[in-house]
Amino acid sequence: MTSLINVNKNSKNEVISRHIYGHFAEHLGRCVYEGIWVGEESPIPNTRGIRNDVVDALKKLNIPNVRWPGGCFADEYHWKDGIGPRESRPSIVNNNWGKVTENNHFGTHEFLDFCEQLGTEPYICGNVGSGTVQEMQEWIEYITFDGQSPMADLRRKNGREKPWKLKYFGIGNENWGCGGKMRVEHYADLYRRYETFVRDYSDIPIYKIACGPSEADYHWTEVMMREGTGRTEPYSDNVMTSAWEHYRPNMHGLSLHFYTRNRANYDSSTEFTEEKWFDYMRRTVVMEELIQRHTAIMDKYDPEKNVDLIVDEWGSWFKVEPGTNPGFLYQQNTLRDALIAGINLNIFNNHCDRVHMANIAQLVNVLQAVVLTEGEKMLLTPTYHVFEMYKVHQDAKLLPVSVSTKNYSYGEDTLPMLNVSASQDDSGKVHISICNLDPNNSEQVHVNLKGLSELSSASGRLLTAEAMTEHNTFENPNRVEPVAFNNIELKENELSLTIPSKSVLVVEIQ
Ligand code: AHR
Repeated sequence: MTSLINVNKNSKNEVISRHIYGHFAEHLGRCVYEGIWVGEESPIPNTRGIRNDVVDALKKLNIPNVRWPGGCFADEYHWKDGIGPRESRPSIVNNNWGKVTENNHFGTHEFLDFCEQLGTEPYICGNVGSGTVQEMQEWIEYITFDGQSPMADLRRKNGREKPWKLKYFGIGNENWGCGGKMRVEHYADLYRRYETFVRDYSDIPIYKIACGPSEADYHWTEVMMREGTGRTEPYSDNVMTSAWEHYRPNMHGLSLHFYTRNRANYDSSTEFTEEKWFDYMRRTVVMEELIQRHTAIMDKYDPEKNVDLIVDEWGSWFKVEPGTNPGFLYQQNTLRDALIAGINLNIFNNHCDRVHMANIAQLVNVLQAVVLTEGEKMLLTPTYHVFEMYKVHQDAKLLPVSVSTKNYSYGEDTLPMLNVSASQDDSGKVHISICNLDPNNSEQVHVNLKGLSELSSASGRLLTAEAMTEHNTFENPNRVEPVAFNNIELKENELSLTIPSKSVLVVEIQ
């Protein structure tokens, strides 16, 4: 049997928000320190302390936003520790991640400089768990207020005359866990209180993101949608609109965290057989069900879909690399991670009517990183290549797909062999991203694009490898990287191709 993909016109004009391709950088292990920040005195080439090689590599992904400073770190972070002359900043304990010393050399100015170097939007997560309302309010004032005020003046004293642009702000992180072990009923009230003081000081109103559920905690979503928001009008750029709505809680986004992991027994990232390949494919596609079920609850309270789902932590979570600090969450990244990334991004694309943003955990050297570093060396992971191949979907119009494919079976269990999404960009180019989950079998694929206007040429890029466990190392950094894939037949808006086993393919048709 040949698999059949029907690519349909989008009658609803849904757009795949570029923010689905967002990232996350926490003060955790070697993500911020070493991965991003090396300091101005470092022999590693840097611009104002930020590594040039990492910035150059990340720029090629068109990263739309970076979430910072955590994660669990966010609910213990007191932002005033991270401003002013670096030598006077206090050294603190990073209680969540290995109890190592955090010297606060990377703070608000350094993060926002990093965002400016990358050309990306900041998404800052505030401290609800151990911080005050005043502290949160003052952070926003410090970053965004152009007039005269204690915080804006302090920012100027610290060397930044003009405010930065900040739209995305999280009101706490995982407040059901490391962010305060709260019940949702308690957090919903706290959310209303904290968000009240997150003021709009500029012509970019703050887009407020509430802590949402962990995985399948549907009760959390239910209560937050019922109690956390009285406002389900869309986010508006018009400050006047939001200004008079003082007394209704504002929630523009509700976050969801879901990792592809085996919490009972964290597995190796590089040493595995087909059993674990299948297991992690199975664990990944759960994202589809989670999004559908949380969305169904959100639809009840917000049928207009004005509150967005923000999947601001996702990705693979394996056992740390042997010999590394268990608190640093440093893992390698194989072809299996490429599939995990490709499948998740396809799921987010297909649910872009509700999913506005997603942030893979994490940017450098932590969990499913796109970049790994070792001293002055840097490598790009298979996950990096998926983000680079998929960037064509950013801000493109979703083309809904219907897929009829065989199953990939392992033992008694089965999964659909192919996972797909498609979009059309402003210039009319169509992109289809196809993941073949089966590590043993290639598959003939027939793609029907008949509903679209005439397309005359097709080309592709493919990411695969000989072995499931293949990965890039500092000695061999180019083992897994995309190659051109031109074995595609296009006739009267019908495509035929054979997708290799265990691969991620992006086809461009114009
Ligand atoms: O990404 C690592 C951690 O996972 C984050 O700090 C936390 O929010 C989540 O539990």
